[in-house]
Amino acid sequence: MDKDVIILAIESSCDETAAAVVKNGREVLSNVIFSQIDLHTVYGGVVPEIASRKHIDKINQVIEEALQKAGVTLEDLSAIAVTYGPGLVGALLVGVSAAKAIAFATGLPLIGVHHIEGHISANYIANPSLEPPFVCLVVSGGHTHLVSVKDYGEYEILGRTRDDAAGEAFDKVARAIGLGYPGGPKIDKISKEGNPEAIRFPRAKVGDGEYDFSFSGLKSAVLNYLNGCQMKGEEINTADVAASFQQSVIDVLVGHSMDAIEKYELDKFAIAGGVASNASLRQAFEEACAKKGVEFFLPPPVLCTDNAAMIGAAAYYEYIKGVRHGYDLNAVPNLKLGERL
Ligand code: KG4
Ligand code: ZN
Repeated sequence: MDKDVIILAIESSCDETAAAVVKNGREVLSNVIFSQIDLHTVYGGVVPEIASRKHIDKINQVIEEALQKAGVTLEDLSAIAVTYGPGLVGALLVGVSAAKAIAFATGLPLIGVHHIEGHISANYIANPSLEPPFVCLVVSGGHTHLVSVKDYGEYEILGRTRDDAAGEAFDKVARAIGLGYPGGPKIDKISKEGNPEAIRFPRAKVGDGEYDFSFSGLKSAVLNYLNGCQMKGEEINTADVAASFQQSVIDVLVGHSMDAIEKYELDKFAIAGGVASNASLRQAFEEACAKKGVEFFLPPPVLCTDNAAMIGAAAYYEYIKGVRHGYDLNAVPNLKLGERL
């Protein structure tokens, strides 16, 4: 392809209003993220109605800023990309409507992107040499997927969570030990002062699904431990509980991932999603991959949590394949990975 492909990407599936301009799938010209976290913190989690309303408030401003920072105008663009699922329906709709309006007004092609495909594609931005096939562990607030990336846009899900997502477990445990929302970054921080071997929490095995995960038992084990301490009048060492919980999550994630790499005989492994910004998790995977002689890829933390640059990267590979959506594109809250609607 001789001409540069410049994509304006929009992401509004949860509580980040984001827009980015990405060149040829791998070069980020701008990446604007308005985080609504402060608005939701008082409620202890994301309130969907508040998220939608704030997206409406911010979306135009964020898009304009992304174009401005990239130094481009709508005339320079090749396509408009947007996350259309999975996520909160009212939140997704704001981004989808904005993208459709711009595509209609300019006549530019419209490309709907799967949110998880976006997370995986953050790795293409951070690592220019990375190409499929590889195995990717996607760990976010809503998803825990172990994915075989066979080619651009071609995925096989090897394992998934049966109950809570990894990020959800971090958020729930953080709430239980009084750290507040969002829990992931807070557990990450306080764990550095704790002993990960202080308490032996369970490492769940799911009987019939070799690479499936389960985190609800771990969450209950932490709650039981806290209740037990309270009943016995024992003091709770928050840093030790956080570090021990985190270690249990990491052990299971690393264990399953390494097993999958071995079985599928792949020599490249990547991580993605909000939980992939966890410092101890990043280190544990780095060590495990080095030990196995597997090349390890990871996006910088800002590309792990929700952003639109990753959507622009994923959209590029759809664009060159000829994928286009019509103006009837809708938000699909439970969109499956690899499914095209
Ligand atoms: O990918 P993301 O921004 O949104 C979803 O698509 O869900 O992930 C958000 C999740 C939250 O559960 C948050 O607590 C978790 O990622 N998270 C972390 C860290 N930073 C964010 N979990 C562990 N350690 C972190 N440093
Ligand atoms: Zn996400």
